[in-house]
Amino acid sequence: MNQRHRLIGRRSFLFGLGSLATMSAVATSKAAYENQQIQALYDPDRNFIITEGFSLKERAAKKGLIYGAAARQIDLSSNASYAAAIVQNCSMLVPEWEFKWTAGNATLRPSPDRFDFSAADWMANFAATHDQLLRGHTLVWHDSLPEWFKTSVNSRNAAQLLEKHIQTVVKRYAGKIHSWDVVNEAIRTEDGRNDGWRITPWLELLGPNYIDLAFRLTAAADPQALLVYNDFDLDYDTPEQEAKRTAVLKLLERLQTKRTPIHAVGIQAHLFPGENKFNPSKLRKFLHDVASMGLKIMITEMDVADKKLPTDVKVRDRIIAGVYEDYLSTVLDEQAVIAVITWGLSDRYSYVSQSQPRSDRAPVRPLPLDAQMQPKLAWNAIARAFDHAPRRN
Ligand code: G3I
Repeated sequence: MNQRHRLIGRRSFLFGLGSLATMSAVATSKAAYENQQIQALYDPDRNFIITEGFSLKERAAKKGLIYGAAARQIDLSSNASYAAAIVQNCSMLVPEWEFKWTAGNATLRPSPDRFDFSAADWMANFAATHDQLLRGHTLVWHDSLPEWFKTSVNSRNAAQLLEKHIQTVVKRYAGKIHSWDVVNEAIRTEDGRNDGWRITPWLELLGPNYIDLAFRLTAAADPQALLVYNDFDLDYDTPEQEAKRTAVLKLLERLQTKRTPIHAVGIQAHLFPGENKFNPSKLRKFLHDVASMGLKIMITEMDVADKKLPTDVKVRDRIIAGVYEDYLSTVLDEQAVIAVITWGLSDRYSYVSQSQPRSDRAPVRPLPLDAQMQPKLAWNAIARAFDHAPRRN
């Protein structure tokens, strides 16, 4: 793009932001800060060129990496072109709902005494049929617990209930699972505890030993799976996320002191451009600290929320792609990072449309493929990050 196009690009971009700003009565300083951040992320000249001919999983594999995506049975079974795109691009599949206690239309544990594996088995079969690695997400989480949990679980039966869950679910898929998110999102410094732990039903029912217990039960039920602690908001240079990174490192140290069988950290990487500052050296330091403990790292749920970005799809897609490439090129420099998983593959099926809808009601575009399964610049950005990544030793 020449200088003139670049200026026009910038002008129409600023116009987009300006008109958005006038829609709100008073531009708050937060909005001004965010607009400034977003402008800094927009580069009409940035090059997202790729060599053609390789899928994301092939590009990742060349570097000894895994690329995968989360998906739901309901979407895979109802949309053949989506299923084909998942098979073509992904060497790993993460059931977005089906391995949780309950989520969406899938309920793995309909009652304390009953399991329903129909949806989870369907996903496991899909992965096996298409030679995909399978991830288990998740065993211990404060969210997505069935209604009966509140009324039926107490401090006397909680350990037994968790033990039954892990033994039944993990043993059923033992040998077929690459990695389990054993414990999900256990840190929340805002909850006010000195250790930064989230106050969850599990903590309240079982006490601070619950994380160790969950990892031990999982290791016993599937000695082959990589056991992961998974969390979000570990990416940005803010005091809150810095505190969270520190609390996660303390948790990992504590687990290692107890010789808890934990093998990896999952960094969800739900990114929100505009809202926070990305500082590659802060993130590198965290990755290095985790790697120094002998742990692997997986990027487990990456997507780029476009809530704050301009309406113009071309501008928006460029910013999103830049965010993908900047983030992934930073994390893939760290040898301990073994996998990149996006939280969905196509914009057609993204949790962002429910949880982070845009105020202009334009469809969200957080993922590598558009709603028609066509690759966007974000796809190129991920491809480029794999192409430029150092090979794993
Ligand atoms: O679709 C209905 C919607 O019509 C209705 O208005 C709404 C009311 O609650 O429910 C909607 O379904 C929800 C669905 O998300 C929509 O995306 C389900 O109830 C809900 O269970 C499901 O939420 C899932 C959520 O985890 C809780 O399990 C999301 O799909 C899933 O993407 C999300 O994934 C989590 C990871 O597991 C952990 N990390 C964060 C990530 C995003 O929140």
